[in-house]
Amino acid sequence: MSLLVVTAAQRLFCQCRSISTKILARGAALDGALSQFRSICGEDGVSVAAAVREQHGRDESVHRCRPPDVVLFPRCVEEVSALAKVCYSQRLPIIPFGTGTGLEGGVGAVKGGVCFSLRNMDQILDLHQEDFDVTVEPGVTRKTLNAHLRDTGLWFPVDPGADASLCGMAACSASGTNAVRYGTMRENVINLEVVLADGTIIHTAGQGRRARKTAAGYNLTNLFVGSEGTLGIITKATLRLYGVPDGVLAAVCSFPSVQAAVDSTVDILQAGVDIARIEFLDDVMMDACNRFSSLCYPVAPTLFLEFHGSEQSLLEQVKTAEEMTQTNGGSDFQWARDAEKRNRLWKARHDAWYAAQALRPGCKAYSTDVCVPISRLPEIIVATKADLLENQLTGPIAGHVGDGNFHCLMVLDPNNPDEVQQVHLFSQRLARRALAVSGTCTGEHGVGLGKRALLFEEMGPPSIRAMRDIKDALDPKHLMNPGKLFLG
Ligand SMILES: Cc1cc2nc3c(=O)[nH]c(=O)nc-3n(C[C@H](O)[C@H](O)[C@H](O)COP(=O)(O)OP(=O)(O)OC[C@H]3O[C@@H](n4cnc5c(N)ncnc54)[C@H](O)[C@@H]3O)c2cc1C
Ligand SMILES: *[C@@H]1O[C@H](CO)[C@@H](O)[C@H](O)[C@H]1NC(C)=O
Repeated sequence: MSLLVVTAAQRLFCQCRSISTKILARGAALDGALSQFRSICGEDGVSVAAAVREQHGRDESVHRCRPPDVVLFPRCVEEVSALAKVCYSQRLPIIPFGTGTGLEGGVGAVKGGVCFSLRNMDQILDLHQEDFDVTVEPGVTRKTLNAHLRDTGLWFPVDPGADASLCGMAACSASGTNAVRYGTMRENVINLEVVLADGTIIHTAGQGRRARKTAAGYNLTNLFVGSEGTLGIITKATLRLYGVPDGVLAAVCSFPSVQAAVDSTVDILQAGVDIARIEFLDDVMMDACNRFSSLCYPVAPTLFLEFHGSEQSLLEQVKTAEEMTQTNGGSDFQWARDAEKRNRLWKARHDAWYAAQALRPGCKAYSTDVCVPISRLPEIIVATKADLLENQLTGPIAGHVGDGNFHCLMVLDPNNPDEVQQVHLFSQRLARRALAVSGTCTGEHGVGLGKRALLFEEMGPPSIRAMRDIKDALDPKHLMNPGKLFLG
């Protein structure tokens, strides 16, 4: 992130003149646009208050840049479309905003412009229980949806640590602890309604369509999943639902080494155990969680596991998993069957982010996010821990190891440029280590501001060219969330 700041500042310096004329022109365009915005979504739907702009110009990451010039709160897709048309004709940047829980600076208004906050569009529409699908507006969060589904016997399993908006999750291709069994947003979106920069409304699978499978042309749904607001504004998502499992069993197990914990993960998956969650926490992370959540787990590499299924299959799954962990030297295998005990266990995992931050009061966490083929996981975690030690960096590790995805929660003082630079260099080394073993620089948080150079390395010029061609076709004036994904 530091390099980003430096290069952005340098570039800003060089481009200062041309930018200042642009800003003047933009100011005039904005003044003209404001009255049109107000006539479309009302006085209450338009805010230029400094506090509101500040709040909508940043997410949960350490990235900081300009706030948007204005924040809009549309109430329906027609308003979103009409507002986008105004931005299009005035050449104003459009930045979609879900709940602002992103970790890569995705909502920052790098070039100023208009933030579309979608929180007032919060209806849950068209629940089809018998077909296991539901359509939601962009203001609906994952927890609101699951609360709504409580009495139906259905649930939506994708669970990033924060209570994010479901359309924001689609925009980031988010996942979480359940992905190893239920997939990520990519596997769980059936259709999206999207407003393009020029105000055109499209349905990525055709209006109202929700077939379980289709072979009908290009997969536009997949194109918008992970597009991070750079192609259009998602105004509706049709999602897959699942039956709440009959039985749930959770377990914790500690290991003598990182290698042993990760080897157990690989063994459990290879044995075909249909595990619902398998999360790794290293010794530093366990220590932080113990302190933060007043627990007393052994301070050692640890796996948190969860099994879903019928009574019979639960017993089989647990038996196999326990054997695998024992073969790898695991000890203290603890089970939790009742909901309260399970929730206590998983709460510790879900609070990992805050537990990490509490290691150094006044500091912020920055999360790395590499994902590698699972067979390469042990070596990369071992190398990463050695790197952390060698460079004296605080970075507890928590990972969705069943998917080969893990995070170093780097705790840093954002006001100390030296430290910021150290963490930046570490993140780059880690990402390159992942790329070298056929992995990716981001498993679930997205590219945003911080990983644009890495995306370029990961894809290579011809593939980046193809991505840019798609961007040019759908957003010819480059108004959608400028400055994200691509360098320059
Ligand atoms: C404590 C904590 C733990 C987390 N754990 C995880 C985790 O385990 N897994 C994971 O994947 N993520 C995790 N996250 C990150 C975050 O929750 C996800 O990235 C989430 O998808 C962001 O959703 P949002 O609605 O808050 O998006 P925002 O932060 O509002 O926006 C993120 C990006 O999506 C775009 N966007 C938002 N809404 C729309 C829309 N309707 N149409 C088009 N573009 C849109 C924005 O322009 C921006 O580029 C965590 C975050 C926190 C704070
Ligand atoms: C198209 O993409 C969506 C979203 O990623 C996915 O859920 C769906 O299965 C894909 N469809 C096909 C036919 O591959």
